[in-house]
Amino acid sequence: MNYELVIEGGQPLHGSVKIKGAKNAGLPIIAASLLMDEPAVIEEVPDLMDVKTMLAVIKALGAEVNYNSQAEMIATNAINLQSAEPPEDLMRKMRASFLVLGPLLARFGHARLSLPGGCAIGTRPVDLHLKGLEAMGVEFSYASGLIEGKTSRLQGASVYLDYPSVGATENLIMAATLAKGSTTIENAASEPEIVDLAGFLNSAGARISGAGTKRIRITGVAQLGGTRYAVIPDRIEAGTFLLSAAVTGSEITVKNVLSDHLKPLLAKMRETGVEIDETDLSAIRIKGSKEKKCVDLKTQPYPGFPTDLQPQFMTLLALSGGSGFVTETVFENRFRHVDGLVRMGADIKVEGSRAVVQGVGKLSGAPVEASDLRGAAALVLAALTAEGITRITGLEHLRRGYSGFEERLRSLGASIKLESNAQLRREIASGE
Ligand code: UD1
Repeated sequence: MNYELVIEGGQPLHGSVKIKGAKNAGLPIIAASLLMDEPAVIEEVPDLMDVKTMLAVIKALGAEVNYNSQAEMIATNAINLQSAEPPEDLMRKMRASFLVLGPLLARFGHARLSLPGGCAIGTRPVDLHLKGLEAMGVEFSYASGLIEGKTSRLQGASVYLDYPSVGATENLIMAATLAKGSTTIENAASEPEIVDLAGFLNSAGARISGAGTKRIRITGVAQLGGTRYAVIPDRIEAGTFLLSAAVTGSEITVKNVLSDHLKPLLAKMRETGVEIDETDLSAIRIKGSKEKKCVDLKTQPYPGFPTDLQPQFMTLLALSGGSGFVTETVFENRFRHVDGLVRMGADIKVEGSRAVVQGVGKLSGAPVEASDLRGAAALVLAALTAEGITRITGLEHLRRGYSGFEERLRSLGASIKLESNAQLRREIASGE
């Protein structure tokens, strides 16, 4: 059954919302559990489609998986891994599936898998993953659309990443954990999710230092034990809720955050006129303003402004009283939400990797279709403040990265409900 979100805009938000564990930390951590010789327990893993996909991948490889989605806790046991060939359909479903490559090479010395899929936000190659692994002694070949990697034993190496790719840094950390000797990753990604992955592996006996900086050093160990580890709060989910208050001019408290991880967003939000009170280290009180100043925005690797909040921030800019540039430097095709925003009355023009946003003060409800995960969130935020009713389809994107999104927005006072898709019902009835 196809569903759509029906949102009646204009309701102010109030109250508080608790942020869940980080999707982008949970996914590599689940992949990393493949490296362990004893059971691992991973806590604070939100109930998301992407999490289910990653669990299906490691299960298909022979790991035992026990997921209590209500308790948001996963127990894995990868002692009896049997396969180094993850199923193609799961690989194509989500780009993060490619994160099993490093662990499989470390465990088996070989792996065969298809190129990853995921959100349609650019070409997203994996050359940096492969180059780094080649430096560690892996030989890759390609046949029938699959990549096969082989090595007699992973060797520590000195790797310089041409670009601080998050996924490449993670794959290399995981491969290096069980490699012979030491590995240095220069120009590594320094996102908080990398620090969390290293924390997880170190808690099971890995020797990783420098995670969170541009230079990560990993000393290979013979084997890892087990561990119990809680994933960090999701900075992108936190940012999305903070922006929901900014967009609607509301006052809410966002709990269970690590405000240090949100610095680039908070700085930009303050520039637009939003009041932010970092009440303590784990909660942020935000008071949106009716008058929103427009600012320029440029996405960058951490600690720059996160590309995963660019679409949601663009909704705020679309409502401002001025004009600003949004420059996307991380992905080349991340403006797919613009069509929907324009349908709702926004004035946004895309020129290559830059969008020119002319604030319009208010938006109006319209039927719109989400085409990627964070773009879907941007449309929901727009709908919360738009005049009239907005119907949003393409919800499978939203489900990949937000758990209980509409329920939690409803508990903040939003008028938002899930309905079966009327258009589809009509088509089925008329036999189309
Ligand atoms: C991760 C996040 C994603 C976020 C992104 C950037 C997860 C599961 N996903 O994605 O939500 O938007 O970081 O913060 O954590 N690139 C190459 N060659 C490579 C690898 C990457 O050219 O081998 C390019 C990509 O095409 C892209 C840029 O580098 O333009 C950033 O990609 P990367 O940092 O690897 O992002 P992901 O790990 O895919």
